[in-house]
Amino acid sequence: MSAIDKKIIIAVDGFSSCGKSTFAKAIAARLGYIFIDTGAMYRAVTLYALENGAIRSGIVDEEEVCRLLDRIAITFRFNPARGASDIYVNGDLVEGKIRTIEVSNCVSQVSAIPAVRKKLVAMQQEMGRRRGVVMDGRDIGTVVFPDAELKLFMTADPAVRAQRRYDELTAKGQQVTLEEIERNVRERDKADMSRAISPLRQADDAIVLDNSRMTVDEQMEWFLELFGKISSGQ
Ligand code: DC
Repeated sequence: MSAIDKKIIIAVDGFSSCGKSTFAKAIAARLGYIFIDTGAMYRAVTLYALENGAIRSGIVDEEEVCRLLDRIAITFRFNPARGASDIYVNGDLVEGKIRTIEVSNCVSQVSAIPAVRKKLVAMQQEMGRRRGVVMDGRDIGTVVFPDAELKLFMTADPAVRAQRRYDELTAKGQQVTLEEIERNVRERDKADMSRAISPLRQADDAIVLDNSRMTVDEQMEWFLELFGKISSGQ
């Protein structure tokens, strides 16, 4: 494969809160590719379900979520200030509302609903049709683009991941404890890996990146070396 002259699909799957989006966004910017955060799409559906009565006291009413699905139009618009696309639901900017602990606590349940996955996977396949994308998620290399030319699987120590998510949320002024974040990270890992449909799984041909002890710059260095080898067919 000559990835230099041909735009490819780069699938970045892995556990929650291990910096997939930061990494995927950085490599997309470096290559001039489009970055697509599929977790944001599952979060947007969860937020809409929370705001429209399909989740009450943390209980997800699956039938109600399915009924709401037809009323949810998800779009992305590039935001130059962030260097990435913001997510909109029915024309409303929801980027700032989808990363709360309330959404995180319900998103695994919502993303296990087959009709939700069917709708979002079809959208993701359409967005990647012209290649030249870096897509991060859980099932990109296994289900959405099993033919992706490069598949990465990211992981990191759960305690390190919880600390990173905690730092991110408290920096935004959210009132959370490290314990509840660590519980959420572990519960989501379990739920994402054990769901019946499209569970989180490392594709057989994925390359693992454990970034527990790596800076963002070191991850970029690792990636560029790998990409250079792949591009030159080594
Ligand atoms: O990447 P994230 O933590 O923002 O994702 C939020 C949730 O969405 C995660 O707990 C699992 C789900 N998800 C999924 O099931 N499939 C994807 N491709 C992306 C995310």
